[in-house]
Amino acid sequence: MNYRHAYHAGNFADVLKHTVLTLIIEYLKRKEKPFRVIDTHAGTGLYDLSSDEAQRTGEWRGGIGLVRDAELSDAERNIISHLLDSIKAVNTGHELNHYPGSPVIARHLLRKQDRLTAIELHPEDVEKLRTVFEGDYQTRVIELDGWLALGAHLPPKEKRGLVLVDPPFEKEGEFGRLFDGLTKAHRRWPGGIYALWYPIKNLKEVAAFRTALSDSGIPDILDVTLEVAPVHPDGKMSATGMIIVNPPYLLQEQLKLILPAFARILGERGKGRSSIRRLAEEHRPAS
Ligand SMILES: C[S@@+](CC[C@H](N)C(=O)[O-])C[C@H]1O[C@@H](n2cnc3c(N)ncnc32)[C@H](O)[C@@H]1O
Repeated sequence: MNYRHAYHAGNFADVLKHTVLTLIIEYLKRKEKPFRVIDTHAGTGLYDLSSDEAQRTGEWRGGIGLVRDAELSDAERNIISHLLDSIKAVNTGHELNHYPGSPVIARHLLRKQDRLTAIELHPEDVEKLRTVFEGDYQTRVIELDGWLALGAHLPPKEKRGLVLVDPPFEKEGEFGRLFDGLTKAHRRWPGGIYALWYPIKNLKEVAAFRTALSDSGIPDILDVTLEVAPVHPDGKMSATGMIIVNPPYLLQEQLKLILPAFARILGERGKGRSSIRRLAEEHRPAS
């Protein structure tokens, strides 16, 4: 396990992923009933943007750095307000010194009846996570293979919630693990909301992944993408996607508004693009 998210925290892919995360959690909060967020590849939870790693790539400057300072319409700003609030909560004043990872963003948005399970396999990262959430009775940090959690930890006792799957894509076969993990999880908990992150570099692999999802028999799948520069299989990642299973009904409309804004703000030399498509329709009861 060589992947270190500290190099990438706050980049354009995090902006998309964490916006989707916040919108789903806010939707879940529309009902009083408790829910659980399960983050299968949680990372360290909090990233110091002045660290060597973050400074070396400077990726956050071309991601959250641009979005935070961009001119946005009220409607656009409203959609990212929960992400901006979560960022504000880990910084003092207007300086952007820290960026929150997915478990810290999720935790920031939970109410007292909601719960978070943060799973991480890297021993150093899990130690950092434990420190971040020390004494927090609403959060369980578990050192475990996130792919196993998709079996063992589902469904959660709350029977409502979100599973975020954000693997590192450092080893061959990650699209296969993502697909198998989702199908296994969905069999155990068809009513859960799933948000899966993926990189767009190898277009053939991405196309095969989408086809497999469309043919899987799993209903109600949304696929959203954000491209900040033309895709080169051997170059650095310039496009990313999220698969959302059982998306909240408001999500597509919210993303329709914010994704073009992200493409406008984050696209290099005006080359930003975004897309939203359905890979599978909702099951409608036969009439
Ligand atoms: C992309 S990062 C996660 C970033 C985090 N979700 C966020 O948005 O802030 C992927 C993480 O998965 C961890 N990891 C790698 N293999 C894993 C596995 N099999 N199970 C759980 N975590 C794993 C890595 O150590 C790394 O911290």
